[in-house]
Amino acid sequence: MEFSIKLGSPEKQRSGCVVAGVFEGGELSDAALILDKAAKNTLSGIIARGDMSGKIASTLLLHNVPNILSERVLLVGLGKRNEFAARQYLDSIRAAMRALFATGAKDAVLYLADLPMAGRDSAWCISQTVLAAFESVYRFDHLKSKAEKNKKASCKIQFGLLSGKSTAHQDVALKQAAAIGQGMKLTKDLGNLPGNICTPSYLAQQAVALAKAHKSLKVTVLEEKDMQKLGMGSLLSVTRGSDEPAKLITLEYRGADKKQTPIVLVGKGVTFDSGGISLKPGAEMDEMKYDMCGAASVLGTLQAIAEIGLKLNVVGIIPTCENMPSGSATKPGDIVTSMSGQTIEILNTDAEGRLILCDALTFAAKFEPTTVIDIATLTGACVIALGHVASGLYSNQDTLAQELLAAGEQTYDRAWHMPLWEEYQPQLDSNFADIQNIGGRAGGSITAACFLSRFTKDYRWAHLDIAGTAWKSGKEKGATGRPVPLLTQYLINRVQADN
Ligand code: BES
Ligand code: MN
Ligand code: ZN
Repeated sequence: MEFSIKLGSPEKQRSGCVVAGVFEGGELSDAALILDKAAKNTLSGIIARGDMSGKIASTLLLHNVPNILSERVLLVGLGKRNEFAARQYLDSIRAAMRALFATGAKDAVLYLADLPMAGRDSAWCISQTVLAAFESVYRFDHLKSKAEKNKKASCKIQFGLLSGKSTAHQDVALKQAAAIGQGMKLTKDLGNLPGNICTPSYLAQQAVALAKAHKSLKVTVLEEKDMQKLGMGSLLSVTRGSDEPAKLITLEYRGADKKQTPIVLVGKGVTFDSGGISLKPGAEMDEMKYDMCGAASVLGTLQAIAEIGLKLNVVGIIPTCENMPSGSATKPGDIVTSMSGQTIEILNTDAEGRLILCDALTFAAKFEPTTVIDIATLTGACVIALGHVASGLYSNQDTLAQELLAAGEQTYDRAWHMPLWEEYQPQLDSNFADIQNIGGRAGGSITAACFLSRFTKDYRWAHLDIAGTAWKSGKEKGATGRPVPLLTQYLINRVQADN
């Protein structure tokens, strides 16, 4: 897909399709008004006949509209003008993409970026449209024996602006959004791959390939014997039952001076979570191939910032293994020693994410980070709390939480700030070790975060529980690419904050 910004009037565009909005009640947007005038009231006539109500996300495709140089005109319903805001924009743009890609148009000019909207500018509209286009063309069918050719993927999309000049701000937004879109694609592809293909070794190979493609990235892969030497008894306890070897992947992105301390991203990379000896029930267990989506989002984000050439130092750390039952698997009641020295009583082998993350978080300190953010499909309880809309956000520092929330709002990849209060900590008290790995049913997402907080006392830290947002179930089953937009935007904002 190619994207660009184009100035000029909609009726004069020679393209496969020109796209313009109509508000509910038939009120034409500025671009639609211009088209209507050039076409001698063809559009208003159609609206008067009742064929386009302007209802949100409705579309109407027209051919051979008089005096319009494009082959097609696509009208998109925007809903009520006084209710038009971010969500309405996103609904209409997604509908527009669906309708556009159902046509044979090889290129299109979209006049939807300068619709007046409270709190969001045209640069925002442009980035969101780029992401919607990526979303709309995404397919994961290369494992089918007969994959169809994806013609939509070669469509050229132009953002038509009626007035003035395109600004540097808009150009930057477009480039960054395209990089985020590519990063999300990588994250989705890795997430959607089955566990028999996307193993810990496969993730390590992907990291090596990413570092090969970008000079600014350096990769290191630690093996189980290396982790043994580092004292990662907690991480290694999870992989004991598996035949696939665990890996600890580190990707260092150098975009700024060597002296600048890095931001570290840690992603949970359980390539299949069967639960281990605390075996999960069979229903929907296939979805536990998605238990490496945190890791995939770290890779996607690093690819995006490398593509952008962000002037910042970022380190990605990916602890990756399988969680399987076997004769050698860790058993409930086993006690292990983490890299931090704290001992852990494993009461449920299905609470494995925190066991691999705690050692990776201790390992992260070696990079003397300003900030560490971990991303994990950590708890089913988070899905119960926040559903599939918001990621759960925890932090030991409120400023960091605010910055991440803001980045999520900005990209519409939203998170919700959850409590990390001391009062929850006693749920992790163990009779036999320093800490136990489960805190009971009450506040399950919170106590998981509390567990991690015991290993992150030396730096600014945040945790994103993406169990509800990393993939969709049911008919639409598939990875979402979240929270690559939130993370990338956060990092982009950090550069601007430092300058
Ligand atoms: N990977 C799962 C969390 C998960 C479950 C994400 C369902 C999305 C959907 C995690 O390793 C896990 O199994 N967590 C347990 C923790 C419990 C044993 C304390 C859970 O949430 O049930
Ligand atoms: Mn589990
Ligand atoms: Zn898991």
